[in-house]
Amino acid sequence: MACHFRRAIAEQVSRVVGVPSEKILHHIHAIPVHRKHASPDFQLYVNSVLAGSVDSACDKKKAQAVAEKLNCNSIVSEIGTGRGSVTFKINRDLLVKTVLRKISQDGPRYGFNSELLSDIPKGLTLVEYSSPNIAKKFHVGHLRSTIIGNFIANMKEAFGNKVIRVNYLGDWGLQFGLLGAGFSKFGCEEKLNTNPLQHLFEVYVKANAAAEQDEDMKLSVKDFMEKLESENPQALSLWTHFRGLSIQEYAKIYKRLGVHFDDYSGESFYRKTSHDVLNLLRSKDILKTTDEGTGVVDLSEGGDLSTYSTVMRSDGSTLYITRDIAAAIDRMEKYNFDEMVYVTDKSQEKHFQHLFKILKMIGKEKVDCCLHVPFGRVQGMHTRRGDVIFLEDALDEARKRMLKNMATAESSKTTEDPDDTAEKIGVAALIVQDFKGPLVSDYHFNWDQALQSCGDTGVFLQYTHARLHSLLALWNTRDEEEFNVACLQDPSVISTLQHLLRYDEVIFKTLKEFQPRYLVSYLLGLGHLANVAHHSLYVKGSTPEVTHARLHFFNSLRIVLANGMKLLGITPVDKM
Ligand code: ARG
Repeated sequence: MACHFRRAIAEQVSRVVGVPSEKILHHIHAIPVHRKHASPDFQLYVNSVLAGSVDSACDKKKAQAVAEKLNCNSIVSEIGTGRGSVTFKINRDLLVKTVLRKISQDGPRYGFNSELLSDIPKGLTLVEYSSPNIAKKFHVGHLRSTIIGNFIANMKEAFGNKVIRVNYLGDWGLQFGLLGAGFSKFGCEEKLNTNPLQHLFEVYVKANAAAEQDEDMKLSVKDFMEKLESENPQALSLWTHFRGLSIQEYAKIYKRLGVHFDDYSGESFYRKTSHDVLNLLRSKDILKTTDEGTGVVDLSEGGDLSTYSTVMRSDGSTLYITRDIAAAIDRMEKYNFDEMVYVTDKSQEKHFQHLFKILKMIGKEKVDCCLHVPFGRVQGMHTRRGDVIFLEDALDEARKRMLKNMATAESSKTTEDPDDTAEKIGVAALIVQDFKGPLVSDYHFNWDQALQSCGDTGVFLQYTHARLHSLLALWNTRDEEEFNVACLQDPSVISTLQHLLRYDEVIFKTLKEFQPRYLVSYLLGLGHLANVAHHSLYVKGSTPEVTHARLHFFNSLRIVLANGMKLLGITPVDKM
């Protein structure tokens, strides 16, 4: 297995340089594969384990001195030096046998059993993501939160953590006053049942406009809000009805995206305990009342209110942040998580900084395990009908465009359920386009670019997976574990295996930094290698022994590709 090679190298180097092998392990990197360029498999920069030096000539000498003291053995067949690094080539037979065996043994856990990951503690991770606001737009930011949060949860789960997926709905506040007051005027029970999200949004928009012009409407909004706050049964039952229908609808759409939640929580859950938060802040003398009568927490260094957070309105009601404080405390007590991740766009960065600071001030040390993962804005995700208002619009658009592309592509196979296939490819396209860059960067979305079949896209990944799948349909000796390693010495096999050696490093980095782009670019690289191999390694017309070995190799490739795609939130298709 990959790390077994690393360990063997680390132990030998350790004896020579007198640094513990555990420290060396993380500095032995699989060398990235460059096209048409045979290279060794691993490298170790001497500077990373020995005290650094200033000039590169000195590093070179140091690397040579280390390399000279190392010996080849049954695992390492060649030792060399690069610029400041020692390089290692693994015995070719062993490389082929070990990597392929490891993949077939570990299956979906390939890469996650690596020693590189062994010192990361396991535990319970709570990931809060998506969190749309009922009756408001499900904008692209919510789509990003949904797929990024899902990805983080998938990574943590694959690593072996217990994961709780929470959707924290915007299900309380003024929009329900508007809905409650507006529904009798603008609402239609039938429309509500057939298309709840759209209809609630319509009612909300109309009620909002009416309240701006009409004093009576304004009053009835206020009245409904008061009824809700005081738990009037009729008001509450209407609210429950709207909320329930919305969740049902969300769940359907999440299913199309391959996303699920363990818990549909929401701001409404904390409508009462957020008042307990105010009392707690008061008792700790942290709550200050301003001249306007609002309640604030002073967050400044010098106690001069130069930075503060408003936690109470002048009428005594609580705010978004107050409910977030209550929610965080509740989760700490209920789940005793080891880490909690919030995924929202970067405009809420300050909100979370304030939230964490207040939690710290009231002595909630668990806040040190809380993390906000911010992401940038997306421009240009329009559909032919206009702006994306609901998640469904984006999914429908992706599916529609993909169906059209499939109908015109010459290479398309007839699939049993073209709609379903187009949907899975469309989702892959959205995800890959979104995950390509650093999460905090803003980017411009372009459908044509996202849906190209041969660029660096989700369509390309799906296409590669489907091709491998249909190639493997020829494999009738699948159950035979043994294969002849001598049949797998072609350069395209070796470079692919070298790429597979790097998978655990990519997983490690992704787990540490939550940046899906490492995995995306890794998988695109794997896809390109798979296509090169597919062109040069014939399966049909080869001897049974060669065919069996090659199919074994292609199957391993397909497994790792599918594993990685699933982590990203993509459902690999078998045909397209
Ligand atoms: N509903 C919020 C919005 O749409 C996002 C909620 C984020 N999570 C939180 N705990 N504040 O902006």
